[in-house]
Amino acid sequence: MCGIIGYIGPRDAAPILLEGLRRLEYRGYDSAGIAIQTGRGIVIRKLGGRVERLAAHVSNMPVHGSTGIAHTRWATHGAPTERNAHPHLDCRGLVAVVHNGIVENAEALRTALQRKGHAFYTETDTETLAHLIEDEPGETLEARVIAALEHVEGTYGLAVLSASEPDKIVVARRGSPVLLGVGDGEYFVASDASAVIEHTRSVVYLNEGDIAVLTPEGYHIVDRESRVQHRVVDDVAWDLEELGLGGYPHFMLKEISEQPETVRSTLRGRLLLSEGDARLNGLNLTPEDCADIKRIVILACGTSWHAGLVGRDIIEELARIPVNVEYASEYRYRTHLEMPGTLAIAISQSGETADTLEAMRAAVTAGCRVIGIVNVVGSTIAREAQGGIYLHAGPEIGVASTKAFTSQIAALALLGLHLGRRRSLSQAAGQGIARRLAQLPDLVRCVLALDEQVRDIAAEYADSPNFLYLGRGVNFPVALEGALKLKEISYIHAEGYPAAEMKHGPIALINEDMPVVCVAPKDALYQKVLTNMQEVKARGGRLIAITTEGNGDLSGLVRHQLRVPAAATILSPVVTVIPLQLLAYHIAVLRGCDVDRPRNLAKSVTVE
Ligand code: G6P
Repeated sequence: MCGIIGYIGPRDAAPILLEGLRRLEYRGYDSAGIAIQTGRGIVIRKLGGRVERLAAHVSNMPVHGSTGIAHTRWATHGAPTERNAHPHLDCRGLVAVVHNGIVENAEALRTALQRKGHAFYTETDTETLAHLIEDEPGETLEARVIAALEHVEGTYGLAVLSASEPDKIVVARRGSPVLLGVGDGEYFVASDASAVIEHTRSVVYLNEGDIAVLTPEGYHIVDRESRVQHRVVDDVAWDLEELGLGGYPHFMLKEISEQPETVRSTLRGRLLLSEGDARLNGLNLTPEDCADIKRIVILACGTSWHAGLVGRDIIEELARIPVNVEYASEYRYRTHLEMPGTLAIAISQSGETADTLEAMRAAVTAGCRVIGIVNVVGSTIAREAQGGIYLHAGPEIGVASTKAFTSQIAALALLGLHLGRRRSLSQAAGQGIARRLAQLPDLVRCVLALDEQVRDIAAEYADSPNFLYLGRGVNFPVALEGALKLKEISYIHAEGYPAAEMKHGPIALINEDMPVVCVAPKDALYQKVLTNMQEVKARGGRLIAITTEGNGDLSGLVRHQLRVPAAATILSPVVTVIPLQLLAYHIAVLRGCDVDRPRNLAKSVTVE
């Protein structure tokens, strides 16, 4: 989704801003722009399309100055045109604004401002902010921004320039994350740390309601009443290399391939093999708290929601606590009848998904204790949750989530083990699970060796317009995830279904043209899944089976079989999902799709 980068310091701002925008590309966007204080006023360069086009435009029409702000826009209000791209100006071109989030009362504000004589140039909600600031008489830019924001309903991460105070950037946050980068004699503002870590690892995460003022001499943070606020300077642990392709053609393939290490990293220091337990100090739950949990509600979106479905089976089996898994966007607007003793778990790679954050807040209001399972350290969900588990999977750049999914399952398994051991799970059973968990990184490494086979299958089906994915039990969410990966990056219509439920509808779609991917590892439901595959075969469907090494030969039944190593049933999704990630990847590449930047999608969905 939209990205912000701003710079103030001794260097020429434009190249720094353009590089920052490149680092933000992964969030998903459709237009981009920069605004620079040139000494003769604010100059804007912006375009629809990619950052590379903007960089070419800036190199044709250079703009110099050492203070500037920049933005990648993911269209909500108004088409992704040059006109609607940020930064936006006031009537006189004296105030420039970049904005993430949504001004919900934009229409009313626009009408009121037009009545006062303001002329609007774009269809965006953001432009109202520039005119509101123009309209405020305050003595300093920060005073004008604070006064302007009094009129605004909605969410914002905001960076503002004013021609009358050329050595200043004013930043504001409500509902949309922004951080400051603290360099050596230079300062940055960004929507996420990846845009600044090339220059500094020291960041200050702004809190809700914070206003920050950046000058070449330093920065300070105030609240709405202009009272100074002290915020800690955090250290970003991610390496710059982790943000590069490292020789891979795409981030998605890099991230799929990293999974042996990323799953290991999620487990590191937490698995206690001889005790048959998991050490999860960050949960902030006492043994009594764990024993007292009556019910769990998991809140998430997208791939994280699929991980939540797997987590339900894991936690119910290991900890014997009933679990509901909710789409965060639906949960937040429902009546919440949480009974005492309900633990809410927000799962989010980015830690910034607006619906997940709001669902988590609704759960708190409903009386739940809330923990987060999050990848991005310092993100809003991580900071607002009362405890949690970091994935430690490193930055995930590819829009289609892969390594976060397997790490989320590993984290949920650690949680199930931890809760189970404080309830009725015996030490011996705990040891068994811990041992199976410890094997996962090696199993994932073995599955990755199927890559060539998967590529051949991809070549055969890359032109198919539809796909059906089937699975049962803990591998039903894997079917959902396989279908999601395919549609996200290849734009092929794909559906995931519980294998037996297929008879209640999707079976009508099956003919010789329909590839059907069936997740069928050896488990208690294997025979049932075989029957479901027979049903597909009888109707001419072309079956691709993900099955377990040592299972009988399925060649009479299926057209292709991909054999993965056996894992404990509840952990098997970590293994079975990998061929599906690879299949989606190779099909998308063969179809010439932009794998890491699929159309219309965003990595971090910060609007509801
Ligand atoms: C977007 C991303 C998905 C992700 C979902 C939830 O749709 O494209 O890959 O699964 O958001 O994101 P989160 O950061 O909360 O896990």
